[in-house]
Amino acid sequence: MPAELGLPASAGDAGWPGGAPTGRHPGWPARLGPIAVGAGLVELRPPRLFDSSAWSRIRLRDRLHLENWEPTGPGRWEERNASMSWPSQWWALRSLARHGQSLPFVITVDGELAGQITVGNVVRGALCSAWIGYWVASHVVRGGVATAAVAMLVDHCFADAGLHRLEATVRPENAPSLRVLGKLGFKQEGLFRRYLDVAGDWRDHLCFALTVEDVPTGLVNRLVGQGRARIP
Ligand code: ACO
Repeated sequence: MPAELGLPASAGDAGWPGGAPTGRHPGWPARLGPIAVGAGLVELRPPRLFDSSAWSRIRLRDRLHLENWEPTGPGRWEERNASMSWPSQWWALRSLARHGQSLPFVITVDGELAGQITVGNVVRGALCSAWIGYWVASHVVRGGVATAAVAMLVDHCFADAGLHRLEATVRPENAPSLRVLGKLGFKQEGLFRRYLDVAGDWRDHLCFALTVEDVPTGLVNRLVGQGRARIP
């Protein structure tokens, strides 16, 4: 990696409406929302240690809904998603966030945990780039939750966290996720062959991205303008 990619953005950087972001880990911690969509009021907040039972209940119930789209993990699904495996995952997420490498959030709908959304592999310096990934519980899908969550987090990353580009990689078979990115105007840039080990095999992924310049007035504003979301 070129040395300059690891350097913090300089205070004189242009491109952010309110000036370059400040602080050691700009944009973290944060609470985002609420915005109202068909499924209810969507908010993002940092994961908490006591999310374990709600998280595990959904993850164990939704194995069929989630497993084909998530990176292959160690051990059985039931073990990885048991309540007792949450504290180590929570700790890892918190540690990455505290080191400025990630912005991990849980998604709540009407105050109840209903998914996760994470910005990971944050690289600053001359890249100011990261990836974004998400899942939403089966009982609230098709209600605009993921679209709202991605919109809020993209706006936050571009306005407060000082990122310039966000990438999303999706399996070509994942129609709902492709639709989420399509609604938000992510641009398809290419195909990553046998990119990620998902559900036990190396899977092709389509690569999408957005840069600050693509959304001058923000994604939440765009959704509200399209009648897809409302600020309560
Ligand atoms: N074919 C085509 N479109 C579909 C299908 C389908 N089978 N199923 C749903 N859709 C559409 C919905 O109708 C909706 O579009 P619309 O608003 O025009 O009607 C859109 O897909 C979904 O939009 P939301 O309601 O905002 O999304 P939702 O809250 O349902 O969450 C998600 C979508 C996150 C993909 C959810 O289904 C999920 O968690 N799936 C399993 C995990 C997963 O795939 N995560 C994403 C991995 S890729 C990544 O993280 C970049």
